[in-house]
Amino acid sequence: MVAQASRLKNVRYDIRGPVLRRAQELEAAGHRILKLNLGNPAPWGLNTPEPIVADMVQHLGDAEGYSDARGIYSARVAVAQYYQTLGVKNVQPDDVFLGNGVSELIVMSLQALLNTGDEVLVPSPDYPLWTGAVTLCGGRPVHYRCDESLGWEPDLEHLAAQITPNTRAMVIINPNNPTGAVYSREILLGMLDIARRHDLLVLADEIYDKILYDDAKHECAAALAPDLLVITMSGLSKAYRAAGFRSGWMAISGPTGTATEYLEGVQLLANMRLCPNVPAQHAVQTALGGFQSINTLIRPGGRLYEQRNHAYNKINAIPGVDAVQPRGALYLFARLDPEVHKIRDDQKLIIDLLEQELMLLSHGTGFNLPTPDHIRLVFLAPVDVLDDATDRLHRFLETYRQ
Ligand SMILES: Cc1ncc(COP(=O)(O)O)c(C=O)c1O
Repeated sequence: MVAQASRLKNVRYDIRGPVLRRAQELEAAGHRILKLNLGNPAPWGLNTPEPIVADMVQHLGDAEGYSDARGIYSARVAVAQYYQTLGVKNVQPDDVFLGNGVSELIVMSLQALLNTGDEVLVPSPDYPLWTGAVTLCGGRPVHYRCDESLGWEPDLEHLAAQITPNTRAMVIINPNNPTGAVYSREILLGMLDIARRHDLLVLADEIYDKILYDDAKHECAAALAPDLLVITMSGLSKAYRAAGFRSGWMAISGPTGTATEYLEGVQLLANMRLCPNVPAQHAVQTALGGFQSINTLIRPGGRLYEQRNHAYNKINAIPGVDAVQPRGALYLFARLDPEVHKIRDDQKLIIDLLEQELMLLSHGTGFNLPTPDHIRLVFLAPVDVLDDATDRLHRFLETYRQ
């Protein structure tokens, strides 16, 4: 018998757990499942821009060997320059680490930081890899509340009240998955001030920084707090629709001299995985420079803009369902009014929906929301598919009882 490591016992990643397994069983039995559960643009015809693919192909011959453990120089220069243009001070190519997606860098940055029992402030709801990775690294995720009635902006009072002598870092996911919130400058300054007062490392996941709707403006946390150690993360998966390339980066800014040991730890971990996927690194410079095709998708008439509006209108028309309009990212996080839909187990709701309507959404508690009254829908699909999806949800909720 081979037993599982006890360190995995409390690691949860439910959005890819039992629900996905059930979907795979149904597919294996020949059913076609409508999957609106993943922020994966390419399968919906939102493809990687051609010049990015061409650049990678062009460089395949140079990409056979390992690269510098942090990543190739040209890509690190491009990332450093990108953050310089956003107003981040003192970020140089040597402050940039490339990774196999932001996912790898989330684990790496926490693994180098945490001792058993150290606490990390994570938003609720969150992108659940953050909570899972803190636990995996021996830390304790402590959730701070984001307030639905304030467009899902973090509740600063609640955030400050979660701090203990064991708190080491604050995670900021902005624009946010799953809520679609884009934080105001005022809220971000408030969060950064709390980090400043308690000497916390700031981990800023800004992977959706270019996916913004209407007049939403993204503020880069590192630019607002040059005096704080901030690790800003982003990559090619979303704005450049290249999730399968597995390419992301982190840029470390602020008083790096105060964190020499920690940063040596990050370098050690980067060395131990030898280097990130090299072909995809060649796409980074082209992606960050020149024409930004994402801008045509997010403005009126663009697919993401129109799909966001459509999904929002359709979902809010279902009795007992309401969602805050997303101002960024790719997700609609809808509330099922507990007065109308008395849901005790939202994972069961999602499995029942899957079995009855052959459609896969995600349950709110999978994003570390404490109450079982939310579901997440990804609006990457074209409007006719979103129509079909919201019709299925409407029909299901009409008769569903727990
Ligand atoms: C907020 C957030 N961070 C990180 C990731 C992981 O991205 P990557 O593909 O770069 O690993 C995702 C993916 O959905 C995400 O939503």
